[in-house]
Amino acid sequence: SFKPLVFSGVQPTGNLHLGNYLGAIRKFVALQENNDCIYCVVDLHAITAQLVHEDLKGQIRSIAAAFIASGIDPVKHIVFNQSAVPQHAELAWIFNCVARIGWMNRMTQFKDKAGKDRENASLGLLAYPSLMAADILVYRATHVPVGDDQKQHLELARDIAQKFNIDFQERIRTTGQGVDMVVGEEPIHGYFPLVEPLIDGPAPRVMSLRDGTKKMSKSDPSDLSRINLMDDADEILKKIRKAKTDPDGLPSEVEGLAGRPEADNLIGIYAALADRTKADVLKEFGGQQFSVFKPALADLAVQVLAPISAEMRRLLGDTSHIDAILKDGGERARARAEAVMNDVYDIVGF
Ligand code: ADP
Ligand code: NA
Repeated sequence: SFKPLVFSGVQPTGNLHLGNYLGAIRKFVALQENNDCIYCVVDLHAITAQLVHEDLKGQIRSIAAAFIASGIDPVKHIVFNQSAVPQHAELAWIFNCVARIGWMNRMTQFKDKAGKDRENASLGLLAYPSLMAADILVYRATHVPVGDDQKQHLELARDIAQKFNIDFQERIRTTGQGVDMVVGEEPIHGYFPLVEPLIDGPAPRVMSLRDGTKKMSKSDPSDLSRINLMDDADEILKKIRKAKTDPDGLPSEVEGLAGRPEADNLIGIYAALADRTKADVLKEFGGQQFSVFKPALADLAVQVLAPISAEMRRLLGDTSHIDAILKDGGERARARAEAVMNDVYDIVGF
């Protein structure tokens, strides 16, 4: 069977927010203990929605700094940026030929990001999930910690792996690099693992502070909608104070959060930050008013985020350190990706 390997990536676009932290980065940190992990700043993805960026290099360094400030160990594990390893793009091309246009057209994130003028979206935006599948599978990674918003893309990565494994199964056998696995009911000799998403915790999708039905996002025009990793204590308190809520106080049971997305979101954020369950948080705050709960939530958010943003600022003060980490990570990642691409070219028959 496949050796367990964790892979995930974050785009270097805009400020990281609490959704990125709770949905992704915090899980990256926890997974290091018992796994081999590869964490990537996915810069090739950054040009899918917007082609020209003012300071892509600075953004890349800032994500890498956030990883390290949050507790990722770039020596035991791998931290690098995607464009340093050309095999991501090479495998993505093969996957573009494996994936079907209909699969891509069904992606809800494409529909959201492309908006009404779909004909004018970049081809890269449509093919984004194919590159994401390549990011993961160029290491034959088995587990991917992400937010709930990436669930559909991970299912597509499984579909791509499965189609590749089935279409090439005879050739996979002759290369001798395959693994016995079962797809559906059928035993096959496959090359790529069917990745498992790791989407869990009390806040798998952190919602906007202004609208409990939209996810917290870098691209939301309202700065009050999100807490950024680098926000100071005053900003965090202000945004949480202004967070939309309903007129009722907090329920004492989790069931009481049904149909109350804003209350559910704030309790979920508290629970995630405190590493507690929502039920447990409601044991403490149930029956209270938001005017009591919100300052407690702001305190907790500051307690968790302030040390991270301070360390990020320190790391970014001398870019040579981050650059050296990215260079070393890129070299180690590339060695692994090269070995996989050699197999893939052999399997495809080039
Ligand atoms: P993308 O724009 O492709 O979703 P990002 O770089 O914005 O990529 O996201 C990085 C990670 O943060 C992903 O794992 C994503 O699932 C997670 N994430 C982003 N927004 C949220 C959110 N509001 N709640 C939980 N997780 C989130
Ligand atoms: Na996102």
